[in-house]
Amino acid sequence: MTKINAAITGIAAALPDYILDNEELSKMVDTTDEWIMTRIGIKTRRILKEPGKGSSDLGAQAVKDLLEKTNTKPEEVDLIICATVTPDHAFPATANIIADKVGIKNGFGFDLNAGCSGFLYALSTGRMYIESGLYKKVIVVGAEKMSSIVDYTDRSTCPIFGDGSGAVMLEPTEDGMGIQDMILQSDGYGRVHLHMKAGGSVKPSSHETVDAREHFIYQEGQPVFKAAVSNMADVSVEIMKRNNLTADDIAWLVPHQANMRIIEATAKRMDLAKEKVMINIQEFGNTTAATLPLCMWQWEKQLKKGDNIILATFGAGFTWGAMYLKWAYDGDK
Ligand code: UT7
Repeated sequence: MTKINAAITGIAAALPDYILDNEELSKMVDTTDEWIMTRIGIKTRRILKEPGKGSSDLGAQAVKDLLEKTNTKPEEVDLIICATVTPDHAFPATANIIADKVGIKNGFGFDLNAGCSGFLYALSTGRMYIESGLYKKVIVVGAEKMSSIVDYTDRSTCPIFGDGSGAVMLEPTEDGMGIQDMILQSDGYGRVHLHMKAGGSVKPSSHETVDAREHFIYQEGQPVFKAAVSNMADVSVEIMKRNNLTADDIAWLVPHQANMRIIEATAKRMDLAKEKVMINIQEFGNTTAATLPLCMWQWEKQLKKGDNIILATFGAGFTWGAMYLKWAYDGDK
């Protein structure tokens, strides 16, 4: 019997219009374009400004476009998984809100939180539902309104993050394309370096937590940086080795976009030329669970059926991982 693989058969994205550049940021906190470009590599990020709009609005826009692009009726979708750290509400799941907004009524949905690795974890979950033969059309969407949890008085975190969403369709294939292998890892101790202090069950929201600015991202940059550099590169090299891939065999690396220096270190460890690395951090910053699909969406036209692609991530948790897939269609068709 031929093996069923899960393959990405379409991709779409949504970005808010407002562009927050380094010049504007320099008026909000004590920073400069030069510092941000040298230490992080970000020039602009998109911000969802409209009051009353949340991650689901960006997610729904991406999923609506995905359904159109792939000629899929909403009723045909079996499952939608939303990766996010900025859900519309603590509950219900943002996946259900997106499903409602685009008319997905015959399937089910849930959210998945694995920090910046959320999209990779969600893709790996969707893969299992497809490979098992249970479902035929699974949507994986990363949707983030990071600006809702960024402290724009904290210069060490506010330049990093942006808002955005990307969505892919996963479907079964028997032609050998699609997801080939993955490595996922986490280390809960890493939470001390990257978390949100209040608003959860351990410290519910109160006047005091708001006054203490505890509903924003708390990050100790250096330990996170060190762990990201070593772990993201380690899994990327390991997945190459165990699939007998050399740098020549790889068409593209799709790395999480947290810091240009982390991306470069990963590519170097893989011995990969920079031309083979998808990088849009300058433009969109770190959109957390949306970075990987935003990259693949931007590069879609250049992708060819059979291209060997490595996805690599690191994020809050700590969580990290790599995935090896063979691109399933010619992106320019
Ligand atoms: O996606 C989730 C995972 N997150 C990451 O992967 C992020 C990993 N961490 C990083 O990317 C980097 O650690 C940061 C970009 C967050 C910080 O860069 P860094 O090179 O590690 O800087 P640092 O925190 O060591 O700070 C160096 C100096 C400090 O000044 P002093 O103490 O040396 O006087 C900071 O106060 O830079 C200062 N600084 C800034 N200066 C100008 C921190 N932020 C800024 C800023 N503008 N925005």
